[in-house]
Amino acid sequence: MEEGHANFGSRMGAILAAAGSAVGLGNVWRFPTEVGNNGGAAFILVYVICILVIGIPIMVSEFVIGRHTQSNMIDGFRRLAPGKWWRIIGYQGVIAAFIILSYYIVVSGWTLYYSVESVAGQLAENRRYDEYFQAFVSNPWLSLAYAVVFMAIVHVVISRGVQKGIEKCSKVMMPMLLLIIGILVVCAFSMPGIDDGLVFLLKPDFSKLTVSVVLSAMGQAFFSLSLAMGCMCTYASYFSPKTKLVSSAMSVAVIDTIVAVFSGFIIFPAVFSVPGIEADAGPGLVFITLPSVFDMAFHSVPFLGYVFSGLFYLLLFLAALTSAMSLHESVTAYVHESLGMSRRKASFLVSVSCMALGMMCCLSFGPLREVTVAGMTIFDLFDFFSSKILLPLGGFLLVIFTGHYLDGRIVKDEITNRGTIPSRVYGVFIFLVRWVVPVAITMIFVRGIIEML
Ligand code: PHE
Repeated sequence: MEEGHANFGSRMGAILAAAGSAVGLGNVWRFPTEVGNNGGAAFILVYVICILVIGIPIMVSEFVIGRHTQSNMIDGFRRLAPGKWWRIIGYQGVIAAFIILSYYIVVSGWTLYYSVESVAGQLAENRRYDEYFQAFVSNPWLSLAYAVVFMAIVHVVISRGVQKGIEKCSKVMMPMLLLIIGILVVCAFSMPGIDDGLVFLLKPDFSKLTVSVVLSAMGQAFFSLSLAMGCMCTYASYFSPKTKLVSSAMSVAVIDTIVAVFSGFIIFPAVFSVPGIEADAGPGLVFITLPSVFDMAFHSVPFLGYVFSGLFYLLLFLAALTSAMSLHESVTAYVHESLGMSRRKASFLVSVSCMALGMMCCLSFGPLREVTVAGMTIFDLFDFFSSKILLPLGGFLLVIFTGHYLDGRIVKDEITNRGTIPSRVYGVFIFLVRWVVPVAITMIFVRGIIEML
């Protein structure tokens, strides 16, 4: 191990930090939307298979590279394949993290605003949630201010370092998040729409299973586990030599999936409790549909509605924060370790430059609405370019690297902690990484391109 390289203080801290990265807006916001759009239980089933067959192998590959090289993603590839073009994978990961962070903070800023407004009781006073949402996002200064505050919070955590910042924060926030999820699920079970909600979420209707549903599930698994952006690789570089890579990846995947499915349990009974609201309301679901759903579902006990929505947005905010931390860290670790800048300076540079880019995303809902490329606003463009192009491409190269280029002994050593734990899964892992995952990713990628045309 390199001297002076940061480390997580405990195994629990490491798992919670990685789970914090995985559990994000993707679970509470994107997952229920995708479930709604793709027909419910059948989608969830395919999603879980994708997590097992594609997600976990890619995460383990990132863990192997990060822990073996003890460095950020770019340096990791430089060390494993000196002078070779493989380092491009590292660059694309760090660049993707930077771009995603710049628009992730915009939506995260919305979660902060909605938390504050619902706690202050403002949200409950407003009945026209669509206008309310539009007025907020198109007000450049207000949404920008919230994005800046959000970024400032992330900045403070990251500049405090790995143990005092990321680990400490994850150890407090992840249990809080799980507690809130628990409370909300219990509340949701007392709603009148619980039966319909459960049927929708648990009873698969295989007639709804199309190729497009399968591909959406794969894409969602990818995003939700924070893969191919250097986040898992960077965090793994802080793992101790004793951390078990495969079982840690599984724990992260289990926590991530539980939070996603529970978010479905929270949202759908509420949605089915209110006549006239469809389960496939799209991305506006969380910010426009849900406030009115909460209102109506709890209209006889407004106080409960108030608590429920306050907790719900707090949950979104916490989830967004721990994910944004990992995106920030992926870039900061590179600037700090490779460009020789102090952690404080590096994180400041990343925060400020990312905020500048984020500002354009924010304004693309207001003054910069007209600035479009191929019909997409700046915000949509960033989302499209990073999640539909950079991520699948990076993931593909990553598994080809681990499966076909990297010395198998390194992979085996890391997976078995230098032979100290049995390696029953090694063969399965290598098979998946060599053949199954590359084919699956190619399919997601091609579909993305077809959609674009
Ligand atoms: N996994 C996070 C989520 O579900 C998003 C994310 C992607 C975070 C990539 C970090 C890196 O919201």
